[in-house]
Amino acid sequence: MKSKLLLGALLAGLIAPPSQAGSVTLPSGAPPVWKSECSSCHVAYPPQLLAKHGWQNVMNGLQKHFGSDASLAPADAKTILAFLERNAAPDGERFDAASGRITDTRWYGRKHHEIPSSAFRSPEVKSAANCQACHEGADKGRFSEYALTAVGRRFED
Ligand code: HEC
Ligand code: HEC
Repeated sequence: MKSKLLLGALLAGLIAPPSQAGSVTLPSGAPPVWKSECSSCHVAYPPQLLAKHGWQNVMNGLQKHFGSDASLAPADAKTILAFLERNAAPDGERFDAASGRITDTRWYGRKHHEIPSSAFRSPEVKSAANCQACHEGADKGRFSEYALTAVGRRFED
């Protein structure tokens, strides 16, 4: 019964696993401190795009965060890590990157395999991590191929 319900929900598109998701919904119950602290330099990356292990590495290294200092009060870091872990991608290589980079995961590579690496270095984009350069609504967790920015549309297949 339970599995039938799940199957029904999947067919109805009610549950969209990130594997197929253009729309990666941001989980409910996100602590305000996550949104305020983790979206000041880039979009708040949806927790389900990285496995636990990656998030732990990110949160344990905020002082040296990809060349920035993103350190937080310990209580805030704890709240954020708990939220990220609760909503992380399942373990396994698709969403695993010890670097803590979503852009290093196999999942990311598959979604963007037709985009030349030069596109990510172009002046309008600068970095593969700069989701919002190409995805309209990246700040709300929307990454559909039908909601690309003008820049993003240039790299569509
Ligand atoms: C002071 C600025 C700053 C803050 C605050 C910040 N970050 Fe970052 N973050 C960066 C920079 C810079 C990068 C590297 C971006 C690039 O490579 O283009 C980055 C990259 C990342 C990446 C890897 C992106 C990828 O896939 O390549 C993750 C994941 C990440 N940040 C998570 C977080 C989380 C979680 C928080 C909140 C606890 C946070 N960041 C707060 C500056 C910041
Ligand atoms: C250089 C532009 C660019 C950047 C930067 C970029 N993307 Fe994309 N992304 C695209 C394009 C173009 C497509 C559509 C690919 C296709 O048509 O084959 C896509 C597809 C996707 C899809 C699949 C959408 C669907 O409807 O199936 C997801 C999910 C996604 N990107 C997430 C991200 C995330 C998360 C980031 C940042 C960490 C990111 N993208 C950064 C250009 C970009």
